[in-house]
Amino acid sequence: MTPEHLGFHHRHDGLWCDDVRLADVARAFETPCYVYSMARLNFQLDRFGRAFKNMNVLPCYAAKANNNPAILSHIAACSSLPWGMDAVSAGELKAGLAAGFSPGRMIFSGVGKKDAEIEFAVEHDIVLNVESLFELEGIIAIAKSRRKRARIGLRVNPDVDAHTHPKITTGKKKNKFGLSGSMIELALKRILETGEFIRLCGVSAHIGSQITDVSAWRIAAGHLVQLTDSISESGHEGLEFIDFGGGFPVRYEGETEPPGIEAFANAIRDAQACARLASTKNLRIIVEPGRWVVAESGGLLTSVIGVKEHFVVVDASMTELIRPALYEARHEIVFEGHHELAAQGDCFDIVGPVCESSDVLAQDIRLNSFPKKNQLAVILQAGAYGFTMASHYNLRPLPPEIVVKQDLMALTRHRQNL
Ligand SMILES: Cc1ncc(COP(=O)(O)O)c(C=O)c1O
Repeated sequence: MTPEHLGFHHRHDGLWCDDVRLADVARAFETPCYVYSMARLNFQLDRFGRAFKNMNVLPCYAAKANNNPAILSHIAACSSLPWGMDAVSAGELKAGLAAGFSPGRMIFSGVGKKDAEIEFAVEHDIVLNVESLFELEGIIAIAKSRRKRARIGLRVNPDVDAHTHPKITTGKKKNKFGLSGSMIELALKRILETGEFIRLCGVSAHIGSQITDVSAWRIAAGHLVQLTDSISESGHEGLEFIDFGGGFPVRYEGETEPPGIEAFANAIRDAQACARLASTKNLRIIVEPGRWVVAESGGLLTSVIGVKEHFVVVDASMTELIRPALYEARHEIVFEGHHELAAQGDCFDIVGPVCESSDVLAQDIRLNSFPKKNQLAVILQAGAYGFTMASHYNLRPLPPEIVVKQDLMALTRHRQNL
């Protein structure tokens, strides 16, 4: 496949994803539907491997970004570098295991794990990133009752501002995530007392998503390395990893090119180089990228229902893609037949059929001709936090998901009614 045919693109006869015409996808599965380019996904996986080359890294894909079974299996089977998975619910843990991720390469994050979820992780020897003292007590009680040794990491709240959207900032003191410094001290004491039922394997932090300021990430990484040194010095043995979290950015519409994944890999290298202990320098690195892996692979395919003044009403809505309504996110939208947005053209708002004024998918879009009924359009960078945040609001069905591999398309999830 030539580079210009990778992912979503225009050809003389319309919109394509890799070597499949989107008109054929719409005919076979109807719109709205999600379409995923496996070639684009491979491109990201390869780039990740190059950026972290020669580093002792375990990338744990954050499945909350996209939990499509075909995408999970594809990442689990990545041949150039073994990937693990970061999960935030028993549902995601089970989906990860079913997709072929080994339990030893899975991380269970989340601020409110229920007992049944903790039991599941402990039974499968999956590392739990602990986010509170009450959770630590819950894990100890479950490990004791099962006569198992629970493997845990401590998720730190470093009180670092990631300078991203407030709704996806997670590393400030005011955010609900992770353990503060004083809680870490209490947790470490409790772990030493507990002995055989708990094993501290590492520390972690995740300060937010779509982080375009590498310096914020660098500060949090430095904090984790220092903490690891002091944990080792205070008598905790057997640390295995430092988990630097996710948050790597992609370029949404109207934004400048964000720092690449290479800049984040370098920040980790620099942070590790500053470790006091050789054991800390050599620990396995975990990162938990979600958005960066899948955003560009996915497009939400939609059709025009009609045009009213400057509103183009399409059949996709905030129930398929809530990001514009929730985060004021701007996604690129490409209409079939409009190769370039003409500066002189008419300006439109692209809206869905849902009964909310916030159901706007894109605003002030210039088109060089008037959109027509049934005309196709694709909303780009929709592979991350698209389908996974979809809802049945207005009793709408969840959209089907179609995976494209070269010139083949496969339905991987049906349209689902309640
Ligand atoms: C603990 C944790 N890890 C990883 C991620 C993935 O973040 P991103 O998709 O920005 O890489 C998230 C997202 O919220 C998260 O909460």
